[in-house]
Amino acid sequence: SESKISWPYPKMIAHRGAGRLAPENTLASMRLGAEHGFSMMEYDVKLSRDGVPVLLHDDTVDRSSNGTGNAADQTYNELAKLDFGGWHSKPYAGEPIPTLYAIAAFTLANNIFSNIEIKPHTGAEAETGTQVALIARQLWAGAAVAPLLSSFSEIALESALKAAPELPRALLIDGALPADWLTRVQRLKCVSVNMGDRNTTKEVVRTVRAAGYKIAVWTVNDAARARELFDWGCDAIFTDAIDTLSPHF
Ligand code: G3P
Ligand code: MG
Repeated sequence: SESKISWPYPKMIAHRGAGRLAPENTLASMRLGAEHGFSMMEYDVKLSRDGVPVLLHDDTVDRSSNGTGNAADQTYNELAKLDFGGWHSKPYAGEPIPTLYAIAAFTLANNIFSNIEIKPHTGAEAETGTQVALIARQLWAGAAVAPLLSSFSEIALESALKAAPELPRALLIDGALPADWLTRVQRLKCVSVNMGDRNTTKEVVRTVRAAGYKIAVWTVNDAARARELFDWGCDAIFTDAIDTLSPHF
């Protein structure tokens, strides 16, 4: 059956802004992804020690900055002093950690759709889900298209649902599609299931779409595989290959 769920998003989503071509989850990466024609960005958001929503994939800042330690232990002012670009390449040295406020301003000014992946540190799932949803509601108030909120954490999604039910949600599945997937997405009132590429079979796509849900797949960097997934009926893919895959695939 055809889905009745509204899905205003493009088929191609730039993963962490520009994949690996710019330092992930920075404003520079969003700018580069946009320059390559991508009109939707995925990025990871968590809270600093003082509750500021910032873009960061890992629990620690070690891999993606010149600092060390858990982001959850550092205030925004401390995180803002770190270099989140120099690890990638010299032209990006000094790139700061972006706040969700800054990225909302950039994406809205440039007509870019957002997928905010709620990536809480352990123990902060509920608080992060609530805060990101409430802040996103304010930042995108009046916008033509709301950001898609996604998470591996069902606690975070449940909190987002309670805080801002009008914002669309996606459940990220790590591993095979679980037998009770439909119960989970129904409970969380999700619009889509976001699957890892290696666990996405034709049967998975058929099952999810037959139940009326959208399906988006990460991380797809190969054109032939992207074609196959779209032929099977996938609604969107996340890619790092912003320079080799067409944004209008
Ligand atoms: O949201 C899709 C994808 O970003 C999930 O995995 O580890 O890249 O955040 P990860
Ligand atoms: Mg992510």
